[in-house]
Amino acid sequence: FGREVEYHEIIDSTNIRAKRLAEEGASSGTLVLADLQEAGRGRRGRTWVSPSGNNIFMSLILRPDILPSSASMITLVAALAVYDGIKNLTGLAAGIKWPNDIVANGKKLCGILTEMSAELEGIHYVVVGIGINVNMEEFPEEVRQTATSLFLETGEKVGRSRLVAAVMEAFEQYYEEFISQGDLSGLISVYNKNMVNAGKEVRVLDRSGDYIGKALGINEKGELLVEVEPGKVRRVISGEVSVRGI
Ligand code: BTN
Repeated sequence: FGREVEYHEIIDSTNIRAKRLAEEGASSGTLVLADLQEAGRGRRGRTWVSPSGNNIFMSLILRPDILPSSASMITLVAALAVYDGIKNLTGLAAGIKWPNDIVANGKKLCGILTEMSAELEGIHYVVVGIGINVNMEEFPEEVRQTATSLFLETGEKVGRSRLVAAVMEAFEQYYEEFISQGDLSGLISVYNKNMVNAGKEVRVLDRSGDYIGKALGINEKGELLVEVEPGKVRRVISGEVSVRGI
């Protein structure tokens, strides 16, 4: 993983570039890195603040032999890897906000955007895009309340290439475990241990409405288990919902 690396000083979006490379046949494990993104993309059509010099913008191409319905689990694998990479390098025990944000003191340190190309029978490729706020000292007004960086949390600057290497190393191990099991069963306990929502009251907004319950943790598919009344547990599927702490 990450043995083939393409680095750009400026790019529109590393995810867009990685998808292009994947279409052209790039092998699984190829990594695209950039210093600055002119059109960094977040989930739900949002933009991702991507100025030069301080942050990590990376996209990893994968070609897993799994069903398209299992691809969303890779995002949780990536979240675990980022959590570990940060912990190993800086000592900061951030938290995973299900399904795939890394947060510290309620503010976002990292976001992950997974995109794929697939048919019913199988996946052509998956692109896992990871944005980590590393050495940013100040955020634009519009995200100041919701975003933070490793520097703001720890008071120390972190070498970006060392952090990329630490994340990739953790990813490789977790990804192997995921592929060998075919699901997240081997990672449930470590994920739940590092998840900030676990054991907390949450409010879930999805197509079936709006409800409150206690987040218990994830299951082997990466769904969030929410106890809505004693003994009654609902499964929340990522991508369709917004889960908030209350
Ligand atoms: C989110 O909304 O939380 C997901 C943000 C994902 C941002 C990363 S930065 C590297 C990669 N390239 C993009 O354009 N987006 C992802």
